[in-house]
Amino acid sequence: MATIRVNPDDPDPASIKRAAEIIRSGGLVAFPTETVYGLGANALDEDAVYGIFLIKGRPLWDPLIVHLSSTDMVKLVAKSVPDIFHPLSERFMPGPLTLVVEKSEIVPDITTAGLPTVAVRIPNHPVALALIRESGVPIAAPSANRFGRPSPTSAHHVLEDFGDSIDLLLDGGETKIGVESTVLDITRTPPVLLRPGGVSKEEIEEVVGRVEVFRGGTRVAPSPGMSPRHYAPRAEILLVDEEDMKKAAEDMVKKASGLLEKGLKVGVIAPDEVASFISNLPISVRKTGRWGEWGEMARRLFRELRSLDGEGADAIICILPPPRGIGLAIRDRLIRASFKGDPHSSLTIL
Ligand code: TXA
Ligand code: MG
Repeated sequence: MATIRVNPDDPDPASIKRAAEIIRSGGLVAFPTETVYGLGANALDEDAVYGIFLIKGRPLWDPLIVHLSSTDMVKLVAKSVPDIFHPLSERFMPGPLTLVVEKSEIVPDITTAGLPTVAVRIPNHPVALALIRESGVPIAAPSANRFGRPSPTSAHHVLEDFGDSIDLLLDGGETKIGVESTVLDITRTPPVLLRPGGVSKEEIEEVVGRVEVFRGGTRVAPSPGMSPRHYAPRAEILLVDEEDMKKAAEDMVKKASGLLEKGLKVGVIAPDEVASFISNLPISVRKTGRWGEWGEMARRLFRELRSLDGEGADAIICILPPPRGIGLAIRDRLIRASFKGDPHSSLTIL
């Protein structure tokens, strides 16, 4: 695959033109967004979209997000939008919020996995926006990782998963948010949070009032992609769930000692203060910023999971943030990564 480095704040037009030509001719382009890298194809081209599923190893029942460069493009892919679309788009678009609305005829079934709805998002990233604008079509893009692997937050991760099986990779450096967008179904009242992400539930509620949280419990999830085991590294994930920093450190040390006694190779992903408690043990420690700086943890989480996996860790101990703000999205990803049960069962995360 060809890789082109682009300035994330001001990509050069020739590179964007080359990428857009690939999209228009039915090819696949990986590109940075503010959340994670996406693997994009023309959302209106059935064959191109099929290519995304094929290369990711993604089941056809898992619908894709359609990326737009402005709210004007919504008319093209949505049959209609409910009133609350407008205050939400005004406040959060472009940004890490994906809205599920009724789809128009023009969107092929493969893009939405046969659902009558389509998920739309305007990414807040100059490279993604320029690419969509120059292509002149909506771009369907899941995260640019193989199905079930942690999402890619750098071009290197995309290469790790796909080698040269995609047509072009736009390398715009590391992504800023590090976890995926929030997915909100606004065809229901009150709206339903299907996936916590870059925009918090609290921020959304400031704009539209109460939001319901999808808690699983049915075998057919309204967001089919939210299967319990997801974002999974090869290593086993052990979670420490303590809001008190000292208790979290104690629990982590206990877990780490138990694993070391069994002769396992152990990694830890934890805030600086907590991580410092095990600095004398033979463990790979990844610090994620100070306790409470959960945005910093979000930025680094997938990168550290991939890197500890690459080092051959048997087990990774992670500290869970409290379930507020971006903490909710981190908890969701980590609980899924640690899930060991029946992959077709439902899982209550939030
Ligand atoms: O930040 C992001 O959202 C990244 C970047 C590349 O934009 N994309 C991303 O896409 O995370 P993906 O495919 O990894 O996750 C899309 C999620 C899945 O959980 C999927 O089930 C849900 O969105 N989704 C897509 N269309 C839907 C629909 N019509 N109804 C309900 N859920 C939908
Ligand atoms: Mg994904």
